[in-house]
Amino acid sequence: MILEIPNVLPPDQLAAARRAIEAADWIDGRATAGHQGAKVKDNQQLPVDHPVARQVGEQIARTLMANPLFMSAALPLHILPPMFNRYTGGQNFGTHVDGSIRTIPGTGHRMRTDLSATLFFAGPAEYDGGELIIEDTYGAKSVKLSAGSMILYPGTSLHRVTPVTRGTRLCSFFWIQSMIRDDAKRTMLFEMDVAIQRLGAENATHPSVISLTGVYHNLLRQWAEV
Ligand code: NI
Repeated sequence: MILEIPNVLPPDQLAAARRAIEAADWIDGRATAGHQGAKVKDNQQLPVDHPVARQVGEQIARTLMANPLFMSAALPLHILPPMFNRYTGGQNFGTHVDGSIRTIPGTGHRMRTDLSATLFFAGPAEYDGGELIIEDTYGAKSVKLSAGSMILYPGTSLHRVTPVTRGTRLCSFFWIQSMIRDDAKRTMLFEMDVAIQRLGAENATHPSVISLTGVYHNLLRQWAEV
């Protein structure tokens, strides 16, 4: 499932976070690329231990944990502290797949990257190019969202970022280990949850709403790793 989560950060928080990020010292993005990724990656990143990256990253993670759409779609177990990248002057990131396992900085703990997330800090009118192209089983999907919105997509996808030919593309990117490892199962649970919420909004006490909620939780109990 590829899903847009709109308005992750409200405009005032987004603007303040953006000012802090833009004023920080950036490094070559190849610092965190794997063997295959390093050959096709050309961008800049904030160092993972940069105080601004840590502070804004915590703010993003905290906000997401209170976002019902994100929680329902991702069913998160671990969120890797969000990182930040920018592309300018023709920079791009060729087709690659993200590493499947990452170490959570400062902890030594490892996590699986079931879901990838990109949160846009610059609006689409601020730069040309810079589309995130995600290869899905149904074909390629081109993603370029408004500032403050986020795309959530399977960590298994091949993807790339097209060259930025004008302006600067500024994003946060990170990974999520889900309680539900399998994308197809996670998608079914999400669709079921959305349908139950919709039914419940019309008639919260209907017996079928209660039994469907029971089925949802019993499936989660069958499949979840916690
Ligand atoms: Ni990637």
